[in-house]
Order: sequence, then structure tokens, then C-alpha cells
Amino acid sequence: MGSAGSGKSVNVAEDFICKLSDGSNIGANLLVLRKIEASNRDSTFAELLAAAGRVFGDGANKHWSATYAPLGLYCSDTGSRIIFRGMNDVHQREKVKSITLPEGKLTWIWLEEATEFTKADLEILDDRLRGELPEGLHYQITLTFNPVSAAHWLKAAFFDRESADVFTHRSTYRENAFIDEAFHARMRRRREIDPEGYRVYGLGEWGETSGLILTNVKVSEFERDFDVYALGTDFGFNHAWCTLLLGYRDGDVYILREMYRTQTETERMCALLDENAFPKDVTMWCDSAEPDRIKTLRRHGFAARAVKKRPGSVLAQIDYLKGRTVFVHPECVNAARELFAWRWQKDARTEEYMDEPDPNCHDDAIAALRYGVEGWRKPRSAAGFQSLELGT
Ligand SMILES: Nc1ncnc2c1ncn2[C@@H]1O[C@H](COP(=O)(O)OP(=O)(O)OP(=O)(O)O)[C@@H](O)[C@H]1O
Ligand SMILES: [Mg+2]
Repeated sequence: MGSAGSGKSVNVAEDFICKLSDGSNIGANLLVLRKIEASNRDSTFAELLAAAGRVFGDGANKHWSATYAPLGLYCSDTGSRIIFRGMNDVHQREKVKSITLPEGKLTWIWLEEATEFTKADLEILDDRLRGELPEGLHYQITLTFNPVSAAHWLKAAFFDRESADVFTHRSTYRENAFIDEAFHARMRRRREIDPEGYRVYGLGEWGETSGLILTNVKVSEFERDFDVYALGTDFGFNHAWCTLLLGYRDGDVYILREMYRTQTETERMCALLDENAFPKDVTMWCDSAEPDRIKTLRRHGFAARAVKKRPGSVLAQIDYLKGRTVFVHPECVNAARELFAWRWQKDARTEEYMDEPDPNCHDDAIAALRYGVEGWRKPRSAAGFQSLELGT
């Protein structure tokens, strides 16, 4: 575990490249996972490729070769492979269960951004590391992550009790000799304006659970039949654009699906929502500040409409959300991350929490959620409880 920029990804990648290139580990293979399979390409895969470049220099491609569809890395010296997977849905999980290797055994697993995974995911992976291994090889799972919340299952599972089978390590950017002055300056600023975030992303310590706005958020799989559905959209470009598909059942709110993108034009976002089957017969509640984008969504067939903002409506929405359980599908990693870090602002002088969300919190998915529940929070004005058929 560690702060941002503490060297976790770079060094784990380099370590695996060295070990898998080493003749004393013949028969070892590595499975690398991000919760969302597609995230591997720009993170773990790129990191491992860069590591091979650093370890072998110009001659790297004499030792390691890459394939892109599917993603893979192969070491011709040892026959070891690195394969990349996700654990996002049943299909991806089945693909993990059915991995076969032409040479050797699956010995090592690396879960990057491990806080995005559920305990059930880890159990499936743990099950994969079974059977006698040739002399000299061992099974091992490596998890790298920012310690986002002291309430996270990883803490209870690996940090709260000692075990001879578990090795833990904490790093911070301050021990990383390769960090530049600009990064240090950003962190100093963060320490000033966002002490809670600095605790996790600067000091690499477990995120405080005090001051959290919602303590009723659960990440879990669930049955997909709902009384009603709704969509919520918070626009953004440099900040994320977030659209959430929500369901309502027995008084509880469910986050079923998320689209979360930065630096993406409105037209492209509409196309992405379309491609990912975000329904058009379900009201989409949007940030009222951007009528043009609402128009574009409507032109693409989405039932987009603006949320009426009134003084106090954020607190009223929070109140509504506090009164029920908010279930988040494990696939919605951004919504989960934001919700588990969403906290009240602290008065710098009195150290007391105020009745206002901390403006430093990332809240793009949260805004989408707040908008999305508007039809249920104010059913009469919005006719939000109209029953709608939806084929998911
Ligand atoms: N062994 C190394 N050699 C060269 N540069 C390094 C090394 N380790 C870390 N760095 C530098 O430090 C930066 C941060 O490292 P890295 O991305 O691994 O951090 P991290 O702990 O994974 O951060 P985050 O929590 O944000 O994912 C890298 O982009 C790289 O520039
Ligand atoms: Mg990293």
C-alpha cells in the first residue's frame, strides 16, 4: 500500500520482469488484473513493457515480445508469459477460471489498484493457485493500492491481524527518489487544502472514516429486477463526465452501470452511452447548468432533462440518500471510490465538521447520483415512479 507516486506500480512491474526473465524461475507465469479489463492496456501492460525496456535497454525485444489482442507479454528466454484479465462481470470471471498456459504453471498474480476488487474476486483468484509446483517455484499474490479507507476489506483481511503468509509494505512519494519538484509542490498544496486526501494520497495511511457523508454504501452484486430505473448525468470535460444507471427497489438505491470519462466531447459521450446500452426510455436527470449538452443528449434520443437546483437541495439529496442503502455494482469503480471518500468539510479553525460537503472531494459520480434520484426524492413533481420496462 502507498501514497500516490510512491513507486508501487513501476517497481512491482520491474520486479516481475526481472523474476520472469530469470532462468531460476522457469515454469513461472504471471496473471495481471485490473478490475476493468480494458484498463490494463494503459496501466499494467504499459508499465511492464516500459520495465522490460529499462531492464534490457535497446535489446528488450530480443527477450520480451508483446501481443495486443489479446494483451500479452512473452519472454523467449524462459518461456514465461504475462496475461492480462479483468474481474468485471461473470464473463470476465469465467475467463479467469479457464486460463490455460502452454508452458509451466500460473504461479503469480498481480492485482493493480486492488481496492477496486471485492473479497469474492480475490477468493476466485486464490483458488486458481492450486496444486504441486516444481521445485523452486512458489505461489504468490501481489496487491498494489492506495489505502482509500480504513473501512476497506483489505485492511481487515491483511493488516488487522498478523499472518506468516502475508507481507505488507507501506511506501510514500517522499521515499521515492525519482519524484520531481512539481509533484512535491502539488502534494504540499494538497496537504494544505485537502488534509483528508493527503492522508491517503500523500502519507499512504488508511483513509479516515470520520466525517464521511454516507456510511450506508455497499459494493455488491445484486438481482437486476427493479421497480423503476433512472439515469443521472453530471457533465464534465476536464472533470469527469459521469452518467449512472440507477435502479430502485424496496426503498433502496442501486447503481447498476457507470460511464465515467474525462477529456471526451459531448458527441462522443452520447455515442459511448449508446454503445454501452444506456437506455433511452428512462429519464436522464442532468446538471441544469448546461442546456446545450442536454439538447445534444435529446438529439441522440436520450430522455434528458434538467434538475431544478434550489438552495439546500444538496443537503436534501444527501438526506434522502442517508435514509436508505446505496448498493454499488462492483463494476462501477469510480462511483464506489467517490462515495467512500465523500466527506463533510472540516472547519480549519474549530476542527469541527460543517454541514457542507468538502469541496475537495471528487464528486462527479456523486453529482450524477444526486441528480439521478431526483425523480424518486420528489415523486409528485417529477412522476419519477412511472414504471418503465427495461431490458437489461
Ligand atoms: N525504479 C524507478 N525508476 C525510475 N523511476 C521511478 C522508479 N520508481 C518510481 N519512479 C517514478 O515515480 C513515479 C511514480 O511511481 P509509480 O507510478 O509506480 O507510483 P505509484 O505508487 O504506483 O502511484 P499511484 O498510487 O499514483 O498509482 C513514476 O511515474 C516514475 O516516474
Ligand atoms: Mg500506480
